[in-house]
Amino acid sequence: MEPRLGGPVSGDGIPPVDYLSWYIPRLQEMRPHDLSQSGFKYDWDLDVDNEKMLNFWDGAANPAEWVASRYGVKVDQVCVTHGVCQAISLAILAALPKDGPRAVGVEMPSFAVVSQCARLLGCEVIPFHRGPNSGEWRLNRDEISNILPRVGVIALTPVMNPTGEMIAQEDENWLIEVTREAGVNIVSDEVYLDAAMGTEFYRPMHLRAENVISVNSLTKCYGLGPLRFGWAIGPAKMIHNVRNAFHNLQGMTSAPSMAIAEAAFPHLDVALDSLRTQREVNLPKLIDVLTENGIEWTPPPIGIFGLIPLGTDAVQAMAEHGAPLGLLATPGGMFHRDLANHLRIAWGGGTEAFEAAMPVLSQFLKSIQDGNN
Ligand SMILES: Cc1ncc(COP(=O)(O)O)c(C=O)c1O
Repeated sequence: MEPRLGGPVSGDGIPPVDYLSWYIPRLQEMRPHDLSQSGFKYDWDLDVDNEKMLNFWDGAANPAEWVASRYGVKVDQVCVTHGVCQAISLAILAALPKDGPRAVGVEMPSFAVVSQCARLLGCEVIPFHRGPNSGEWRLNRDEISNILPRVGVIALTPVMNPTGEMIAQEDENWLIEVTREAGVNIVSDEVYLDAAMGTEFYRPMHLRAENVISVNSLTKCYGLGPLRFGWAIGPAKMIHNVRNAFHNLQGMTSAPSMAIAEAAFPHLDVALDSLRTQREVNLPKLIDVLTENGIEWTPPPIGIFGLIPLGTDAVQAMAEHGAPLGLLATPGGMFHRDLANHLRIAWGGGTEAFEAAMPVLSQFLKSIQDGNN
């Protein structure tokens, strides 16, 4: 079920995203206790200009300006996209050196869309690892040093899915230095990073080096996933390439998405405050349930999800013990096979729903233990 890496693909060779093939039908079951959402649940109440919903942008407002002003960069350093899933492909295309190898080094564990997509762009995709065995989630520097001469781009997710762990600063510094020396560009998926705003962990990579494109969206930290509003930020020269790629592959952005995003942008910090409160309220309840069931666990320092050791295969446990209880959470094996005995649990849901899910989670953990005895 982990991401399917390898060479360029097309036609019948296009692999499924196994994680989505597993997840979408289970989401459709509408299980009452859903701890699977890596995105924050926030009840937006927006005043949207209906007139703008079905008319293409006339130039009076420029969505790139909203992003540029929020992230302290120039407008020509921003290209707006439909979510990170689209931004990742465009950024990889834009960052691949014209005469360099058509190969991308991708971090594992990872969300398959991030690590598989380059295969559809005609690239070979070569893995490198952060963790998963050391327990410390450190970069495997030897692997990266080995692949650098063979790749044009390195793609990674600093706040990793499924662990929620931020990359260590020493690893990040090292990566910036070695990629710069090798003439390799970095595409950094920062879709979970804004949860760290205001803390020492908030380090957008585009601010740190000239060979980086950071991609982000309103999906995860702002609870606006269905909007498909994302962006790429980087040096103007590379962002020019992103924009050209966008025009070739997408043409125009969706007017309704832009109109809703325009209404949301002035209120993004309020949503972030609410995310932090949700963490403060919900996380201690989760820790209590885990402790009660003999599971020792240290949550990641920021964000709204983490990876819990289950001691048994999580796909099977979800089917046997989770489904009958109406519980949904995400098996770690979707991101790397060595995480098959782990479960990603998210605490960004509403307070009441989360509280109601805790006894159910506890029962789930007890049934696994009973089954093992
Ligand atoms: C690492 C990562 N990047 C991107 C996405 C999706 O982002 P978007 O909704 O902006 O396309 C996800 C969703 O799970 C994710 O885990």
